Amino acid sequence: MTSAMTGQKPATPGLYGGTSSRRITVRDIAAAKRRGEKWPMLTAYDAMTASVFDEAGIPVMLVGDSMGNAHLGYESTVPVTLEQMTMLAGAVVRGTRRALIVGDLPFGSYQEGAVQALRSATHLVKEAGVGAVKLEGGERSADQIRLLVESGIPVMAHVGLTPQSVHAYGGHPVQGRGEEAAQQLLRDAKAVQDAGAFAVVLELVTAELAAEVTRGLHIPTVGIGSGVECDAQVLVWTDMAGMTEWPGGRVPRFVKQYGRLREALGEAARAFADDVVGGAYPADEHSFH
Ligand code: KIV
Repeated sequence: MTSAMTGQKPATPGLYGGTSSRRITVRDIAAAKRRGEKWPMLTAYDAMTASVFDEAGIPVMLVGDSMGNAHLGYESTVPVTLEQMTMLAGAVVRGTRRALIVGDLPFGSYQEGAVQALRSATHLVKEAGVGAVKLEGGERSADQIRLLVESGIPVMAHVGLTPQSVHAYGGHPVQGRGEEAAQQLLRDAKAVQDAGAFAVVLELVTAELAAEVTRGLHIPTVGIGSGVECDAQVLVWTDMAGMTEWPGGRVPRFVKQYGRLREALGEAARAFADDVVGGAYPADEHSFH
């Protein structure tokens, strides 16, 4: 049982379960890597859900462009706009007191170059109040990362499978298989660290390669589908809680469902509907006289 669950003060306050009256910062993240501490990250897209995760002690929340699929009903992350991101990231910031909130830079808001990236990131930091931004790409995004970091905006990088390139991949292939691909991934991870990123997401990278990257970097790796050796792990919250509906019921191998929220919510909705149709709700105690 963790200290977050028992409510007791841990001997060494960590990112998860540590008591804190302030927000987690990128300095806390760096210290966790030095301590060899693992930490969890979840996505969030609204204030109420984010407040639940904040109370649960989740130290870092990502307002991911996965909101395209998980929240806005699109088929991919590609259509998400900076305005949509800013609106939902602002809600997540307002719903939390402790977590570091990272806002994703949507497709098309940084690919033109460093100056465009700075304009978009500045908008997200000023308007939504996020403490850091995330963008996809390794060597190809190093200039953008460098300028943001020099301008005072902490950056989480994202290499391996980068979902904004879904049309180029033609699917969601595991990354880093084969010597050439592995060498490119190692170069990408090193490039984002050298450019000043404070952490790097490794998405769908083989566990062996992710372990090698994690050992070789002084910034933390945040794995998704990349094995247990990463410093941190992230899941899309609707996947984690059993809310996502999977085509054909096939849950991807890397997802572990920690709840059955879709079922629970459906049951609640049906119980409410049955009561309304049967005249059991509202009862006298729900009525004013
Ligand atoms: O958008 C997102 O949620 C992400 C995570 C899956 C890393 O990029």
